[in-house]
Amino acid sequence: MEIKRQLIAPLLLLLQSFLLAASARQGGIAVYWGQNGNEGTLADTCSTARFSYVNIAFLYKFGGGQIPELNLAGHCNPATNSCRVFSDEIRACQRRGIKVMISIGGGVGNYSLSSREDAQSLSVYLWNNFLGGGDASATRPLGDAVLDGIDLDIELGSSLYYDDLVRFLKSYRRNGRRVYVTGAPQCPFPDRLLGAALNTSLFDYVWVQFYNNPPCQYTSGNTDNLENSWIRWTTSVNAGKIFLGLPAAPQAAGSGFIPPEVLTGQILPVIRRSRKYGGVMLWSKYWDDQSGYSAAIVKSV
Ligand SMILES: *[C@@H]1O[C@H](CO)[C@@H](O)[C@H](O)[C@H]1NC(C)=O
Ligand SMILES: *[C@@H]1O[C@H](CO)[C@@H](O)[C@H](O)[C@H]1NC(C)=O
Repeated sequence: MEIKRQLIAPLLLLLQSFLLAASARQGGIAVYWGQNGNEGTLADTCSTARFSYVNIAFLYKFGGGQIPELNLAGHCNPATNSCRVFSDEIRACQRRGIKVMISIGGGVGNYSLSSREDAQSLSVYLWNNFLGGGDASATRPLGDAVLDGIDLDIELGSSLYYDDLVRFLKSYRRNGRRVYVTGAPQCPFPDRLLGAALNTSLFDYVWVQFYNNPPCQYTSGNTDNLENSWIRWTTSVNAGKIFLGLPAAPQAAGSGFIPPEVLTGQILPVIRRSRKYGGVMLWSKYWDDQSGYSAAIVKSV
């Protein structure tokens, strides 16, 4: 009896640390919200309890002396300050432990940085208008809520000075709260536009877009290109966590959609072997509503 009890305690400890290590590998789902007025509110998005990260898309004009401009499709009109209503919803998301970023860039817009000074002035603008800087002035496009960070979805223009932008953003903090920096490179490695910024090793989360690029994504019945590309990214990029970015429905991208049963049965068990695995990113909330993708995969992520 006595001997058994002596054996059981260390065994329980071992089991406990094993379970802790396994749950540490649990991932989360990131989603882009903002580019379709028919995808529900930000509060709806967060109250599904399926998402751990929400990227508000997009700040689509910036740099070169332009006053930065937000575009949230049919959700609100920045020109009339009607996007400020989202402050309460942003805070509600954050109370649930969801990190909320503003995404700069996107597939449509007019943006590029013309110098290191231009990068610095954008960083000051972002800090004062979306993050912890400035005051709760009426000029903040999303009102007085303090977002968790900045997402870089740079798909147009030049690669220059985004490394500077990231260094400037990472230098700000207030009341112990730091700025998260996240990014959405395309899967061909290294990313043509974000490669240099990623090489700063300052990104917290990198959601690689494994779509619209057949050589590094899933193609019907073939998981090799995707898995090789995942290994390349997770062994080359020094970032907090790396995510598998996917279209949430076949129509959400030109190519790269993975049926949910293929993702959960064949792909996630392989890619989560990386210590950098952070979960899955979905484009977008609108397409997820159409397909039910996040609901189908969330227990396996
Ligand atoms: C795009 O940005 C540049 C500055 O970087 C500006 O000169 C140009 O007028 C802008 N074009 C449009 C269509 O807004
Ligand atoms: C960044 O680092 C990778 C190696 O991890 C390298 O292949 C790449 O050329 C570097 N520079 C840029 C601009 O991507």
